[in-house]
Amino acid sequence: MSHLPRVLGVLISGRGSNLQAMIDAIAEGRLDARISVVISNRAGAAGLDRARDAGIETLTISHRDFPSREDYDSVLVRELRSRGVGLVCLAGFMRLLSPVFVNAFPNAILNIHPALLPSFPGVDAQRQAWAHGVKISGATVHIVTCELDGGPIVLQRGVPVLDDDTPDSLAARILVEEHTAYPEAIRIVLDGGWRIEERRFVRQSRFP
Ligand code: GRF
Repeated sequence: MSHLPRVLGVLISGRGSNLQAMIDAIAEGRLDARISVVISNRAGAAGLDRARDAGIETLTISHRDFPSREDYDSVLVRELRSRGVGLVCLAGFMRLLSPVFVNAFPNAILNIHPALLPSFPGVDAQRQAWAHGVKISGATVHIVTCELDGGPIVLQRGVPVLDDDTPDSLAARILVEEHTAYPEAIRIVLDGGWRIEERRFVRQSRFP
C-alpha cells in the first residue's frame, strides 16, 4: 500500500517533543512531508508553541466540550479531512480513539509507544517496564486500530535497561530513540510498498 498524501495531522496533549522531531526531520530533508495542522485536546500544551514557532496551524479542541467520545472524534475527523490530511500521527495524545475516528483513516493513523509492544501497553509504560525488571525495553511505532496499543507494528527500537536506572532515566533513554524512530516510521509508511498480513506490517522485498 500507499499512496497516502504526504500531508500529516499531528495530535498532541502535552510536551510535543515527538512533534518537534517530525518538524526537524522535515526541515532537514529526512522526511518528505508537510504538517498541515497540529491539534491538542489541552489548551496550553507546550507542543502548540513548537508548532506555532514552525509556522504550522494549531487548533485546541477540548474533549470536555463534547457530550460523547464519538462527537469529539467526528469533529477531529472533520478538521483533519478539511486540511487534506493523509496520515494522522498521534504524538503523546492522551485520548482513546473511537471507531468513528479509527475507521475514518484506515491504516493511516500512527502512534508511538514508549515500550516494546505487546509488553506494557497503556499509560506509564516506562515505569511498568522498569518495575517489571525487564533488561531491554524501547519504543514502538504502530498503526492504530481499535485495540489499545494493539495495531500492526511498523518499527521498534530496543533500549537497554540498566541496573541503576530510574523510571525517569529509562524514559529519557527511550525518548532519544523515539525521536529518530517516529520520523523514520512515517517515511516508511508514506513511501508505500507495504501491506498488512493478519496483524503483521510487511514491507515488500527490495530484492524480489
Ligand atoms: C512519548 O513518550 C510517547 O512515546 C508517548 O507519549 C510521550 C509523548 O511525549 N506516547 P512528547 O509529547 O512527544 O514529548
